[in-house]
Amino acid sequence: MQTINKKDIPQELTVEVEKLSNLGYGIAKIDGYVIFIEGACPGDTVKIRIGKKNKNYANAKVLEVIKPSKARIEPFCPMQKICGACQLQFIDYNAQLKLKKEIVEDTMRNILGEIPEIRDVIPSPKIKEYRHKIQYPVSETKDSKRIIAGYYKSGTHELVNIKYCPIQPAYCDKIIEFIKEKAKECGVTGYRENSGELRHIVIRTSEYNKKSLIVLVINSDKITENIKSLAGRIYRELENISGVAVNFNKKNTNVILGDKTKILEGEGFIEEKLCDKIFKVGAKTFFQVNPQSADNIFRYVKEYISQNFSKPKILDAYAGITAFGICLSDIAEKVVSVEEVKESVELAQEVVKENQIRNIELNNMDAGRFFEEELKSGESFDITILDPPRKGCTKESLDYAYNLTKKQIIYVSCNPATLARDLKYLKEKGCKIEYIQPFDMFPHTYHIENAAIININ
Ligand SMILES: C[S@@+](CC[C@H](N)C(=O)[O-])C[C@H]1O[C@@H](n2cnc3c(N)ncnc32)[C@H](O)[C@@H]1O
Repeated sequence: MQTINKKDIPQELTVEVEKLSNLGYGIAKIDGYVIFIEGACPGDTVKIRIGKKNKNYANAKVLEVIKPSKARIEPFCPMQKICGACQLQFIDYNAQLKLKKEIVEDTMRNILGEIPEIRDVIPSPKIKEYRHKIQYPVSETKDSKRIIAGYYKSGTHELVNIKYCPIQPAYCDKIIEFIKEKAKECGVTGYRENSGELRHIVIRTSEYNKKSLIVLVINSDKITENIKSLAGRIYRELENISGVAVNFNKKNTNVILGDKTKILEGEGFIEEKLCDKIFKVGAKTFFQVNPQSADNIFRYVKEYISQNFSKPKILDAYAGITAFGICLSDIAEKVVSVEEVKESVELAQEVVKENQIRNIELNNMDAGRFFEEELKSGESFDITILDPPRKGCTKESLDYAYNLTKKQIIYVSCNPATLARDLKYLKEKGCKIEYIQPFDMFPHTYHIENAAIININ
């Protein structure tokens, strides 16, 4: 194929958008040279301005939509272009699902080297007000010292003060507005240039009973009277608050929550209903942001296992609050889980006790080390659920999981690239990928959750 020199690409040009990249950019090609275009949809003809040119690709912005794709729609949020969180909101939802399936296919082709059977994406039950974990950075205005909270403008450190976000429950907007107003009245300062008290507001809110846990992340290791008074007002004056906690984070990094959390008012968790069981989710526990879509995954895996196994022995690895393990306990002979975050395991323990589940064993340790110990003691499982963080599994952990599993691995992943890498490794060991089932956990973003069914040969 003829390749074009990057110098020959003009600064402004009109292109047809062919595809969507794994990061949600429209892709156009000029003689093999790739252009990633922010805010462009496959099928669009757009006039673009090229930014920085690299050897094989350039980034670009849309100057004008000359001919819109049939899938292009008006975004329902007026802040969509500024905020940057819902990259795909200008694309019709059904088209988003098709494009996400193509992203998974392209990723598998590029990394795994083949496209296994990939089923149609199971949509999110809700496409608005689905997001149940809200993390707003907080600051204050320079002169009036007004407290502001919202999201950073895409690619900048400029905080956009957000009053309304249609992908989170509407009552969360009210909670945020209340905290901004009362923080100032209580004398709490907003974080600015490494000083000021309140850094983040984190809300975990329940789809099941609509109660919220509020976490005030402070730039200090001490709780001032001002913060105590703010926590008290949130708990007493707002409805449906399950608790208010303070998290201490003085570190100058972009990690939101520090190691230590203290409950100031009420309880340190919310309750969520999954597969007809009530779970507890704390300030620092991992839990999916979209509880209804998460429930779809747990039910899907449960249905799949009950149709294909009779009373299997299941390992739930990277278990979080052991949602898979607890949901699967009634169709399993035994469930063993492993999770490294203590708070998650403790909350799971309470649920196990309250539901009198007797065939589950919870372990609080590193998954790799746990796998090694289980292997040494001669343990094995019919099915292993692997649900690691975005970075995926290490080769060592995959080796152990493979050796521990007799029949199937069900690998649940929020990152198609690391899933494809790990599938490649498992395939080289002799595993067969039965199929991949994508779920839309994150409508209007480029993110996609997948469950891969893998047979141990
Ligand atoms: C994507 S979450 C999945 C949680 C759970 N399966 C669910 O659906 O709610 C990954 C979990 O793995 C845990 N984790 C990360 N690294 C780990 C490790 N090396 N050993 C054990 N758990 C780990 C995290 O704390 C987190 O709870």
